[in-house]
Amino acid sequence: MRSRARKFLLQSRYAARLNGATVSGNLDDLGFSGLFDHETRTWIRSIAEASVRNSSEISLQIEAALSNWSLDRLSIVTRLLLEQAVAEAMYVGTPAPVVIRESVRMAEEFDQPGAGAFVNGVLHRVLVKDGGRALRLRIVSDIHGNLPALEQVLAHPAGAGCDRTMCLGDITGYGPWPCQCIALVRESCDGVVAGNHDLGCAGLLPHSSFNVWGAAALEWTARQLSDTETRWLGGLPLTLLAQGIGFCHAHPVAPGSWEYIMGAVSALEVLLKTRGETWFYGHTHRPCAWGPRGVRTTRSPIDLRKHPLVNCGSVGQPRDGDPRAAFMLVDTEAQTVESVRVSYPVEATVSEIKRRGLPPFLAERLLTGR
Ligand SMILES: [Fe+2]
Repeated sequence: MRSRARKFLLQSRYAARLNGATVSGNLDDLGFSGLFDHETRTWIRSIAEASVRNSSEISLQIEAALSNWSLDRLSIVTRLLLEQAVAEAMYVGTPAPVVIRESVRMAEEFDQPGAGAFVNGVLHRVLVKDGGRALRLRIVSDIHGNLPALEQVLAHPAGAGCDRTMCLGDITGYGPWPCQCIALVRESCDGVVAGNHDLGCAGLLPHSSFNVWGAAALEWTARQLSDTETRWLGGLPLTLLAQGIGFCHAHPVAPGSWEYIMGAVSALEVLLKTRGETWFYGHTHRPCAWGPRGVRTTRSPIDLRKHPLVNCGSVGQPRDGDPRAAFMLVDTEAQTVESVRVSYPVEATVSEIKRRGLPPFLAERLLTGR
């Protein structure tokens, strides 16, 4: 199914490129809905969006791997194939060997003779090099429509020069600036997973699965969103996993269950099932990390070799008693994570929540971080 979807996406992007357009999230217009199930459509949409959102970074990576060639000299098919492959491996999390194998097959089927070997060489240089490269990641989670908090987090000097910014979902819900937060996340983040509030706003989770304040905010938020924003939220993947580093909103093993990892037993269960991988998640709004035997730490820096399951806390609604916005900075070479807290003009969010008629409790809890 996925091989067929990859081919279909390549052909759609080829047709669009000939017409001077790009293919992004609206694949249903291209006939995807009748051909593929919901899960495959969501997955292929995330590749299409990643290739558009990160097009300059992807072009730079490919160009650096083209010895004595420039991008302009490639055939349209070769170029589209390489872009799609890099987007899938780097931003959607498909293992590089799978992407390379599939891309070589497509090159042999659709491109000129010899293209398979050429694509194989370029993708090895891009993806295998990136796999061994140390990365500095900035991870944000649970923004919940709190724009002043998100702006302060993204402007914090500790995150300057990071290689990638990842968002663990719940961009919306509770707070008064859902559309502005979606726009800023789309502009600033290289990878985004869905949170339960995001899917609730997109109409994909029943409002009855939220508490009374969450459900009230959800109804208000859904009314603010444009069709494009709703569709984008609804198409976000539940997990991203690349080179042994995973990202999800609630639960690495059962991401659609929206279970909370709150105690040693649930953390230990995840650690046993994800052995050898590092996972970052959010959902509880309480930053911490879990290690073998379910030992929890809130001390920063975190050593990922000892604590490979990391809760990144919340940008827009912390609940650990510290009202400052939280985010994490990861050094994949040193295997360390720094937990960062940032003050932001909380009064601005408090007064806007009240002004927009959202439940007052959602404003008051921001002042105490509870
Ligand atoms: Fe949340």
